[in-house]
Amino acid sequence: MNSKAKPKHDIPDGLNEEYYQISADILGSFNKYRPPLNIFEFKEDVCRIAPFYKVGGRLSNGQIEELASMVNEGLIFVSRDDHPVYVKHISYQLDLVLVDKNLKEREIADIFTQALTRRMKEFLDQPVPVVFEKLWVDLMVLTEYLHADIHRTRGLVRRMHKEHSLENHSVNCGFLGLALFGRLQRKDCEAGTVKRQTFDRLAAGLFLHDMGMTKVAQFIRDKKVPLTGDERTKVNAHTRVGYDMMTKLNLKYPEVEECISQHHERLNGSGYPLKTREMGFAGRLCAVVDSFCAMITSRPYGEGLAHAQRRSGYRAGQTLRSYHFQSTPVASRAGPQNEAVTGFRHCRNQRNTFSKKEAAF
Ligand SMILES: [Fe+2]
Repeated sequence: MNSKAKPKHDIPDGLNEEYYQISADILGSFNKYRPPLNIFEFKEDVCRIAPFYKVGGRLSNGQIEELASMVNEGLIFVSRDDHPVYVKHISYQLDLVLVDKNLKEREIADIFTQALTRRMKEFLDQPVPVVFEKLWVDLMVLTEYLHADIHRTRGLVRRMHKEHSLENHSVNCGFLGLALFGRLQRKDCEAGTVKRQTFDRLAAGLFLHDMGMTKVAQFIRDKKVPLTGDERTKVNAHTRVGYDMMTKLNLKYPEVEECISQHHERLNGSGYPLKTREMGFAGRLCAVVDSFCAMITSRPYGEGLAHAQRRSGYRAGQTLRSYHFQSTPVASRAGPQNEAVTGFRHCRNQRNTFSKKEAAF
């Protein structure tokens, strides 16, 4: 795909701070006659940006041809003030982030957050193969982007959701889990020796670990008071239900299976449903991020960690340590301002608790 505009002209260095230079691929993704945002051209003779198209108007066939020619010359831009519109547009065609070299890392993180949250919601609302296929395509764009440079997870972790919903929790666990994986397997990630297939399946497991909850009635999920025995039984069945869904989606990979089946197990045997002490690497990783992500979001029955930490900044560290790791206590650096990054630091501090065998994942 011919994606990147090739500038043949002298474009001022500072221009990219205010404008995105768009490629032919991006232009081709817009409505041909009615692009979704204002378009600017760089006028060489006066060395300045000038409006070419204003939202609400309609391009003529002649202007469309002119635009196509200028974009190949690297002369067409959109304003970074239109960032929200641009993010929304690209999020519907996520593979464009892989070809648009003018997007900044933080802008790509915004696009992934918006796109994957929407895709997860679509799938969780309707967990059938035809919807799953679209989610899978977008997940593979994410893994391609991160597999090339695992440090890109930093921008994603900073965008984790603060409000709870099933899709927000899935996205949070996916982002944080892959970031933590990058810390635990740093050398292999940097050396490029982590198998893409393994990375893909781990990502799928982290994003989909709670899909069994879609079969639990909404009023039970949103309940503000303690669950009855019958309701608790239904909730606790979500790992088994998720496993059945995974089978129907032909997703029976070890990494996905562990994330779904083991994310509520605990190393001290106090988890559910199996109460086993035997957990695989992916299962432990998912259990850690599931617990942490449950703490940082506000739910119908409780505030998120950002508020809770003002009363008990040590809570997250204690819980993760007690249930998932067997290590020397490490003082949590938890603070109220940036709980996601704090949790990331905490998890990083625990990496030695993964044995070499597990690290060989
Ligand atoms: Fe769960």
